[in-house]
Amino acid sequence: MKTPYQIHYETFAVAGGLYDERHAKLYAEFADDLIADGSYSIVYDGVAHACYTPITIDAAPHLKCYVVAPLSVLPEYQRQGYATRLMERAEQELKPDVVFIMGEFHHYGKRYNTPHKVGLPVESLAPLENWFALALTEGALDDVGQSTSSMTGPYTEPLIWRHPSEQV
Ligand SMILES: CC(C)(COP(=O)(O)OP(=O)(O)OC[C@H]1O[C@@H](n2cnc3c(N)ncnc32)[C@H](O)[C@@H]1OP(=O)(O)O)[C@@H](O)C(=O)NCCC(=O)NCCS
Repeated sequence: MKTPYQIHYETFAVAGGLYDERHAKLYAEFADDLIADGSYSIVYDGVAHACYTPITIDAAPHLKCYVVAPLSVLPEYQRQGYATRLMERAEQELKPDVVFIMGEFHHYGKRYNTPHKVGLPVESLAPLENWFALALTEGALDDVGQSTSSMTGPYTEPLIWRHPSEQV
Protein backbone atom coordinates (compact mmCIF):
# COMPACT_ATOMS: atom_id res chain seq x y z
CA MET A 1 0.00 0.00 0.00
CA LYS A 2 1.49 3.35 -1.04
CA THR A 3 1.75 6.17 1.47
CA PRO A 4 0.31 9.65 0.79
CA TYR A 5 3.91 10.82 0.28
CA GLN A 6 4.50 8.17 -2.41
CA ILE A 7 1.21 8.90 -4.19
CA HIS A 8 2.02 12.62 -4.52
CA TYR A 9 5.69 12.09 -5.32
CA GLU A 10 5.07 9.46 -8.01
CA THR A 11 2.23 11.51 -9.56
CA PHE A 12 3.99 14.85 -9.83
CA ALA A 13 7.44 13.46 -10.69
CA VAL A 14 6.05 12.36 -14.07
CA ALA A 15 3.26 14.95 -14.50
CA GLY A 16 5.39 17.00 -16.90
CA GLY A 17 4.45 20.51 -17.98
CA LEU A 18 5.03 22.89 -15.08
CA TYR A 19 6.05 20.09 -12.71
CA ASP A 20 9.29 18.23 -12.01
CA GLU A 21 10.74 16.17 -9.17
CA ARG A 22 11.23 19.26 -7.02
CA HIS A 23 7.47 19.90 -7.08
CA ALA A 24 6.89 16.21 -6.39
CA LYS A 25 8.98 16.49 -3.22
CA LEU A 26 7.35 19.79 -2.20
CA TYR A 27 3.78 18.49 -2.54
CA ALA A 28 4.58 15.13 -0.92
CA GLU A 29 6.13 16.92 2.07
CA PHE A 30 3.19 19.34 2.13
CA ALA A 31 0.80 16.37 2.45
CA ASP A 32 2.83 14.93 5.33
CA ASP A 33 2.95 18.34 7.06
CA LEU A 34 -0.83 18.76 6.77
CA ILE A 35 -1.46 15.25 8.09
CA ALA A 36 0.87 15.91 11.05
CA ASP A 37 -1.04 19.15 11.68
CA GLY A 38 -4.38 17.29 11.86
CA SER A 39 -5.87 17.85 8.39
CA TYR A 40 -8.29 15.19 7.20
CA SER A 41 -6.43 12.71 4.97
CA ILE A 42 -7.98 10.24 2.56
CA VAL A 43 -6.32 7.50 0.51
CA TYR A 44 -8.82 6.22 -2.04
CA ASP A 45 -8.45 2.64 -3.35
CA GLY A 46 -4.68 2.87 -2.75
CA VAL A 47 -4.21 5.07 -5.85
CA ALA A 48 -5.38 8.58 -4.91
CA HIS A 49 -4.79 10.86 -1.95
CA ALA A 50 -5.97 14.25 -0.75
CA CYS A 51 -5.95 16.39 2.36
CA TYR A 52 -8.89 18.53 3.44
CA THR A 53 -7.94 21.44 5.71
CA PRO A 54 -10.47 23.61 7.55
CA ILE A 55 -10.91 27.19 6.34
CA THR A 56 -13.20 29.87 7.76
CA ILE A 57 -15.22 32.28 5.65
CA ASP A 58 -14.91 35.33 7.89
CA ALA A 59 -18.35 36.71 6.96
CA ALA A 60 -19.98 33.32 7.66
CA PRO A 61 -17.96 31.60 10.40
CA HIS A 62 -20.81 29.14 11.13
CA LEU A 63 -20.22 27.39 7.78
CA LYS A 64 -18.13 24.20 7.86
CA CYS A 65 -15.58 24.70 5.07
CA TYR A 66 -12.47 22.93 3.80
CA VAL A 67 -9.76 23.43 1.18
CA VAL A 68 -8.59 20.40 -0.83
CA ALA A 69 -4.82 20.11 -1.41
CA PRO A 70 -2.71 18.41 -2.38
CA LEU A 71 -4.69 16.02 -4.59
CA SER A 72 -3.03 13.34 -6.70
CA VAL A 73 -4.17 10.31 -8.65
CA LEU A 74 -1.38 7.93 -9.75
CA PRO A 75 -0.72 8.37 -13.50
CA GLU A 76 -2.06 5.01 -14.69
CA TYR A 77 -5.38 5.65 -12.86
CA GLN A 78 -6.11 9.19 -14.08
CA ARG A 79 -9.30 10.07 -16.05
CA GLN A 80 -11.13 7.07 -14.59
CA GLY A 81 -13.15 8.91 -11.96
CA TYR A 82 -10.87 8.26 -8.97
CA ALA A 83 -10.59 11.92 -7.96
CA THR A 84 -14.34 12.33 -8.26
CA ARG A 85 -15.02 9.27 -6.10
CA LEU A 86 -12.40 10.37 -3.55
CA MET A 87 -14.14 13.75 -3.28
CA GLU A 88 -17.56 12.14 -2.92
CA ARG A 89 -16.30 9.90 -0.11
CA ALA A 90 -14.56 12.79 1.69
CA GLU A 91 -17.73 14.87 1.44
CA GLN A 92 -19.82 12.02 2.87
CA GLU A 93 -17.42 11.71 5.80
CA LEU A 94 -16.82 15.42 6.52
CA LYS A 95 -20.32 16.73 5.72
CA PRO A 96 -18.98 20.18 4.76
CA ASP A 97 -21.13 23.13 3.81
CA VAL A 98 -18.52 24.33 1.30
CA VAL A 99 -15.32 22.93 -0.23
CA PHE A 100 -12.72 25.14 -1.94
CA ILE A 101 -9.91 24.17 -4.30
CA MET A 102 -7.17 26.15 -6.08
CA GLY A 103 -6.37 24.81 -9.52
CA GLU A 104 -7.01 24.74 -13.23
CA PHE A 105 -10.51 25.26 -14.64
CA HIS A 106 -10.22 22.19 -16.87
CA HIS A 107 -9.54 20.01 -13.82
CA TYR A 108 -12.01 21.43 -11.32
CA GLY A 109 -14.36 23.95 -12.95
CA LYS A 110 -17.03 21.41 -13.83
CA ARG A 111 -17.50 20.12 -10.28
CA TYR A 112 -16.53 23.19 -8.22
CA ASN A 113 -19.01 25.47 -9.87
CA THR A 114 -20.62 27.57 -7.13
CA PRO A 115 -20.17 31.32 -7.73
CA HIS A 116 -18.52 33.07 -4.76
CA LYS A 117 -16.59 36.15 -3.72
CA VAL A 118 -14.50 34.63 -0.93
CA GLY A 119 -10.85 35.74 -0.91
CA LEU A 120 -7.76 33.63 -0.35
CA PRO A 121 -6.66 32.98 3.24
CA VAL A 122 -3.15 34.33 2.54
CA GLU A 123 -1.68 37.25 0.63
CA SER A 124 -1.05 35.77 -2.78
CA LEU A 125 -0.94 36.75 -6.42
CA ALA A 126 -2.78 33.52 -7.27
CA PRO A 127 -5.66 34.48 -9.57
CA LEU A 128 -9.10 34.32 -7.99
CA GLU A 129 -10.55 32.76 -11.15
CA ASN A 130 -8.56 29.64 -10.17
CA TRP A 131 -10.13 29.59 -6.69
CA PHE A 132 -13.16 27.36 -6.99
CA ALA A 133 -15.95 26.53 -4.55
CA LEU A 134 -18.62 23.89 -4.28
CA ALA A 135 -21.51 24.49 -1.89
CA LEU A 136 -22.68 21.08 -0.65
CA THR A 137 -25.32 22.78 1.45
CA GLU A 138 -27.63 24.34 -1.08
CA GLY A 139 -27.53 28.13 -0.98
CA ALA A 140 -24.72 28.22 1.61
CA LEU A 141 -22.81 30.87 -0.34
CA ASP A 142 -25.80 32.79 -1.67
CA ASP A 143 -25.89 35.48 1.02
CA VAL A 144 -22.20 35.55 1.94
CA GLY A 145 -21.11 38.16 -0.59
CA GLN A 146 -17.57 39.44 -0.57
CA SER A 147 -15.54 38.04 2.35
CA THR A 148 -12.04 37.37 3.54
CA SER A 149 -11.11 33.88 4.69
CA SER A 150 -8.81 32.50 7.38
CA MET A 151 -6.91 29.33 8.14
CA THR A 152 -3.95 28.13 10.19
CA GLY A 153 -1.15 25.61 9.75
CA PRO A 154 1.08 24.51 6.85
CA TYR A 155 -1.32 25.72 4.15
CA THR A 156 -0.67 29.33 5.18
CA GLU A 157 2.94 28.99 3.93
CA PRO A 158 3.06 31.53 1.03
CA LEU A 159 5.26 29.24 -1.11
CA ILE A 160 2.45 26.74 -1.55
CA TRP A 161 0.16 29.46 -3.00
CA ARG A 162 2.70 30.55 -5.62
CA HIS A 163 2.53 29.54 -9.26
CA PRO A 164 4.36 26.20 -9.80
CA SER A 165 6.99 28.02 -11.88
CA GLU A 166 7.86 30.10 -8.80
CA GLN A 167 7.76 27.33 -6.21
CA VAL A 168 11.16 25.75 -6.89
C1 LIG B 1 -6.01 16.32 -11.75
C2 LIG B 1 -6.31 14.95 -11.14
C3 LIG B 1 -6.30 15.08 -9.62
C4 LIG B 1 -7.71 14.51 -11.60
O1 LIG B 1 -7.97 13.20 -11.10
P1 LIG B 1 -8.72 12.11 -12.01
O2 LIG B 1 -9.01 10.92 -11.17
O3 LIG B 1 -7.93 11.94 -13.23
O4 LIG B 1 -10.08 12.89 -12.30
P2 LIG B 1 -11.49 12.26 -12.69
O5 LIG B 1 -11.29 11.04 -13.53
O6 LIG B 1 -12.32 12.10 -11.46
O7 LIG B 1 -12.04 13.41 -13.61
C5 LIG B 1 -13.12 14.24 -13.29
C6 LIG B 1 -13.21 15.40 -14.26
O8 LIG B 1 -12.09 16.26 -14.06
C7 LIG B 1 -11.70 16.81 -15.34
N1 LIG B 1 -10.32 16.40 -15.63
C8 LIG B 1 -9.54 15.63 -14.85
N2 LIG B 1 -8.32 15.49 -15.39
C9 LIG B 1 -8.34 16.16 -16.55
C10 LIG B 1 -7.36 16.40 -17.56
N3 LIG B 1 -6.12 15.89 -17.49
N4 LIG B 1 -7.71 17.13 -18.63
C11 LIG B 1 -8.95 17.66 -18.73
N5 LIG B 1 -9.93 17.47 -17.79
C12 LIG B 1 -9.61 16.74 -16.71
C13 LIG B 1 -12.70 16.31 -16.34
O9 LIG B 1 -13.76 17.22 -16.39
C14 LIG B 1 -13.11 15.01 -15.72
O10 LIG B 1 -14.37 14.57 -16.14
P3 LIG B 1 -14.47 13.67 -17.48
O11 LIG B 1 -13.38 12.62 -17.42
O12 LIG B 1 -15.86 13.13 -17.39
O13 LIG B 1 -14.28 14.64 -18.60
C15 LIG B 1 -5.29 13.87 -11.58
O14 LIG B 1 -5.36 13.74 -12.97
C16 LIG B 1 -3.87 14.15 -11.18
O15 LIG B 1 -3.44 13.78 -10.09
N6 LIG B 1 -3.08 14.75 -12.11
C17 LIG B 1 -1.65 14.96 -11.94
C18 LIG B 1 -1.38 16.07 -11.06
C19 LIG B 1 -1.91 17.38 -11.60
O16 LIG B 1 -1.64 17.81 -12.70
N7 LIG B 1 -2.72 18.04 -10.76
C20 LIG B 1 -3.27 19.32 -11.07
C21 LIG B 1 -2.56 20.40 -10.41
S1 LIG B 1 -3.10 20.54 -8.74
